Amino acid sequence: MKTILITGASTGFGRAIAEESLNRGHQAVLAVRNPDNVAQLVAKFPGKAHPIRFDLTKPADAERAVRETVEQFGSLDVLVNNAGYGLLAALEESTDEQLARNLETNFTGPFRLIRAALPVMRGQKSGHIITLSAIAAYANHPGFAVYGGAKAALDAACDAAAQETAALGIKFTQVVPGPFRTDFIGRSLDHATRLPDYEGTVGKFGGFLSKMEGKQPGDPAKAAAAILDLMDAEKPPFRFVLGNYGTTTFARKLASMEAELNAWKEKGLPTDFAPGT
Ligand SMILES: NC(=O)c1ccc[n+]([C@@H]2O[C@H](COP(=O)([O-])OP(=O)(O)OC[C@H]3O[C@@H](n4cnc5c(N)ncnc54)[C@H](OP(=O)(O)O)[C@@H]3O)[C@@H](O)[C@H]2O)c1
Repeated sequence: MKTILITGASTGFGRAIAEESLNRGHQAVLAVRNPDNVAQLVAKFPGKAHPIRFDLTKPADAERAVRETVEQFGSLDVLVNNAGYGLLAALEESTDEQLARNLETNFTGPFRLIRAALPVMRGQKSGHIITLSAIAAYANHPGFAVYGGAKAALDAACDAAAQETAALGIKFTQVVPGPFRTDFIGRSLDHATRLPDYEGTVGKFGGFLSKMEGKQPGDPAKAAAAILDLMDAEKPPFRFVLGNYGTTTFARKLASMEAELNAWKEKGLPTDFAPGT
């Protein structure tokens, strides 16, 4: 039985991961902005599900969430850094307020929570940090400059932290979903004021998202089961791509990056000092 701290357990992936964790007999701390949203789930699993009030934009909440988890269950085995939201805005359209709030929620807040969890996991000599990344961090779309940028920044931070802590018994996994049927492109998506020049790019992508709402191919319950399986793996992957859209898009990006590297390496390679100098 593991102790799992899950942010954003009210809806979508977080809710599905919380339900799957509890159904498999684990102890779960449900870190949410409004505990009323998980009251039914908590009542269904007395003693196993523990709600805490948590907001990624409030710096003090990170250490408090970790402290309350350990006070409640005596350990912290898995941190699921799930909470986050998208901002549909061309880079030029985003306001300072939108930029700051999105970075706080998708990068700084989860970063702080990982930093707060590490002392406990180092003490245990074990732990798994699972972060919901996004395909936008790898193969981005017009309109997700801020959102994809924030997710990519957290991926790079976790890449370093995974190498810093592997010998200390701590594992990292970045979950990389394509479109999944959650509240992500509905109530959770923030929008900038559109400039006419971006109608054909950002506006078009926004239209694609609107049409997809409620019909996204990804099933959060199946994703949650796959993520829970990773918690039992001896060597879980650092990147775990979910769904057909995510897998084909990621593969296409890898191939195009390799082709671009090869096409330009005659120019880029000879930029070192001559050997021995
Ligand atoms: N669904 C997709 O297609 C997709 C694709 C790629 C990546 N993702 C990532 O998956 C993760 C989960 O999103 P989802 O798809 O499950 O969408 P969702 O149903 O909208 O869930 C988002 C969750 O994040 C919480 N949240 C937002 N801002 C927060 C804050 N400041 N502090 C604490 N909690 C906050 C929300 O809480 P409230 O209930 O209080 O609003 C909600 O629980 C996100 O990180 C998202 O970027 C989703």
